Amino acid sequence: MSKVPNGESSPVIGQKYSILRNENSWVTGEVLQQRYNENEKAKEYYVHYEGFNRRLDEWVTASRIKETETVLTPKTSIVPKLETVLFDPSLDQSDRKITRNQKRKHDEINHVEQSLEDMDPTTAALEREHEALTKVKYINKVQIGKYEIDTWYFSPYPDEYGKVPKLWVCEYCLKYMRLEKTFRYHLGQCTWCQPAGREIYRKGSISMWEVDGSDYKVYCQNLCLLAKLFLDHKTLYFDVEPFLFYICCEVDRYGAHIVGYFSKEKVSSEVNNVACILTLPPFQRKGYGKFLIAFSYELSKIEKVAGSPEKPLSDLGKLSYRSYWSWVLLEILRDYNGTLSIRDLSEITSITEADIIYTMQLMNLVKYWKGQHVICVTGKIIEELIRSEHFKRPQITVDPTCIRWTPYKKVPRSKK
Ligand code: ACO
Ligand code: ZN
Repeated sequence: MSKVPNGESSPVIGQKYSILRNENSWVTGEVLQQRYNENEKAKEYYVHYEGFNRRLDEWVTASRIKETETVLTPKTSIVPKLETVLFDPSLDQSDRKITRNQKRKHDEINHVEQSLEDMDPTTAALEREHEALTKVKYINKVQIGKYEIDTWYFSPYPDEYGKVPKLWVCEYCLKYMRLEKTFRYHLGQCTWCQPAGREIYRKGSISMWEVDGSDYKVYCQNLCLLAKLFLDHKTLYFDVEPFLFYICCEVDRYGAHIVGYFSKEKVSSEVNNVACILTLPPFQRKGYGKFLIAFSYELSKIEKVAGSPEKPLSDLGKLSYRSYWSWVLLEILRDYNGTLSIRDLSEITSITEADIIYTMQLMNLVKYWKGQHVICVTGKIIEELIRSEHFKRPQITVDPTCIRWTPYKKVPRSKK
């Protein structure tokens, strides 16, 4: 192949190059797709940087792509398939069922994501399919409320909606639009000023809303499509009826503005108290993530069960959960006089015993002794941990006395 980018030859899909990631930093990466950008009147290439999270994949011009010194290994096998499978709506009922069940199985195996080689053949095949289907992200930006947000991952918005560089979303009803003028018109027409469903918490300007996937199917599907732009590994978009959605809002005199949410299966075969959790990027790192996590545990406390988030956790999900778990456990260990077993801690916090053991191991507080996990702590060790990075007081806490909620009860369809 001749030199890139002198115009004689273009970067080839499936090949590796040196790619300018940001100022002065050339990184090895793979070209995944190409397109013609009408606005820029230039060809663009969608690239993945090796060793970086897929949310950093992006469209770049050929001027940022050059040959690597190392030998190139063309991966021609994925090239012809990619375009045909990309928008193939292979989401009929049976497919989704298999995916969900397989995903469960996959999730059970381990807390962390496995490499393809370690998976059983079916799971590995599904995983490859996931990667192929979601490789290229076409929607680069989404406007929601007053925020224009850079997206992170592919989301299966239907038909032509999935192919626009920018999507416009009503911050209340979550309807999505391709054109700014439709969006402006919608804002004038839309009568919503809060999420669907029922307000179950309000303290200061923060409120939480419960939305039943069966009662507000389109709203919940729109929420899942929006969320997928920021979640790499979740497969739920259309099959929303088995879930409840808990929407967190900031309230002002204009309405209740969505900040983030978590979803939860109405009847979980396992102990999951959260399926997906998301803080929209403009609100991240302000404490909403740990607020949502804390809220999910408050619901589990009311249900009198221990719960755990669905696996696999994303990198940011793991950070947030670890931080929440260690804060909760250290507070209790600091304030409690006497001995506590792991089971006691689980009953107090609704955190599962497995997650407690995991967190205590991270803080070096557990020993495995005579076939059992034993907590080994002294006041001094706890004090030290409280001064360390393991103990981060949350910026926003949940006030349990402000929750107005009863656990979901299955009502026969005819009586609903
Ligand atoms: N880089 C480093 N640390 C981060 C980052 C970041 N980009 N974002 C959050 N954190 C850390 C915070 O520092 C904080 O830790 P600390 O209190 O110990 O310092 C912790 O994560 C939580 O911060 P919050 O402000 O409470 O959480 P936030 O509102 O940012 O939301 C969340 C966290 C929900 C994971 C958010 O990053 C997100 O929506 N990510 C995209 C979707 C996702 O990955 N969701 C989880 C998938 S797993 C599942 O759904 C079960
Ligand atoms: Zn609307």
